[in-house]
Amino acid sequence: MSSPPRPQPATPTVLRARKAVIPAAGLGTRFAPATKVVPKELLPVVDVPALEYIVAEAARVGLADVLVITGRGKDAIEGHFDAAPEVEDALERKGDEHRLARVRRSTDLARMHYTRQREARGLGDAVSYAEAFVGNEPFAVLLGDDIIDERDVLLARMLEVQAERGGIVLGLIEVEGAAISLYGSIKPAGDVVDGVIAVETLIEKPKPEEALSNLAVIGRYVLPPQIFDALRRTELGARGELELTDAMRVLGQDGVPMHGVVFSGRRYDTGDRQDYLRAVVRLACEHPELGADFSGWLTEFVRTL
Ligand code: G1P
Repeated sequence: MSSPPRPQPATPTVLRARKAVIPAAGLGTRFAPATKVVPKELLPVVDVPALEYIVAEAARVGLADVLVITGRGKDAIEGHFDAAPEVEDALERKGDEHRLARVRRSTDLARMHYTRQREARGLGDAVSYAEAFVGNEPFAVLLGDDIIDERDVLLARMLEVQAERGGIVLGLIEVEGAAISLYGSIKPAGDVVDGVIAVETLIEKPKPEEALSNLAVIGRYVLPPQIFDALRRTELGARGELELTDAMRVLGQDGVPMHGVVFSGRRYDTGDRQDYLRAVVRLACEHPELGADFSGWLTEFVRTL
């Protein structure tokens, strides 16, 4: 007698992403001259380099292997996630356990891997360097410019959606007016349900009048490994660079499902000087050690303006 059929899961289960890729090869020209020697990813947001917030976010959602795509002049990034025996010894001698723990944190966050993009040829080109690291699994891409406040949830939800539905999952925000020209713009294929929206297609940095909606792609993606083949089939974009947005559109045309998770929490675009300053001030006001004094000073200072 044959055994009864096994119950089948209602939706096909897709392997949950386990690896993160962080493109960090950009020249940081918007922040020059600060970025002549110091990679923009290492600029401090209060007392922690921007990139550490991003690696910590990946680690928090279980992405234990992190590949940083660096470039020339960016070697200091590797140093930040390595041990610093002299600094650690000095703090140990001073008995400053608290700061010692903070210095060691970056070393313990995740298993760090590095590769170098040879030329700054665009975000899509940078991501293509991750192919051997990623293998045949879905993976997350986190852009170093976008810091998502650790009190708000985005990536965990995106990983969940990807594990349920497969394909591409994008982090999205609603933007107003002409701001859409700074982002990838998506065409929805339905309404937002439980914070998730099906995506029909997307284009990179449209003119405001050509935007497909007011939903903008932010620096969080969960991608299937087929993206590497799509990147090979994608032509250079208007900036003369290989755009990740264009390769995702190619995959969408192949029939790969695309969804977005609409985020309304706190996000700091540290690639932009104004937003960087706002992020520093905001996070300084909320800092457990500095916050009370700093906010007091700031309140007084604002009165003098
Ligand atoms: C990149 C992407 C764009 C996305 C943005 C989010 O642009 O190409 O689609 O909306 O990141 O920050 P960049 O800001 O690197 O020019």
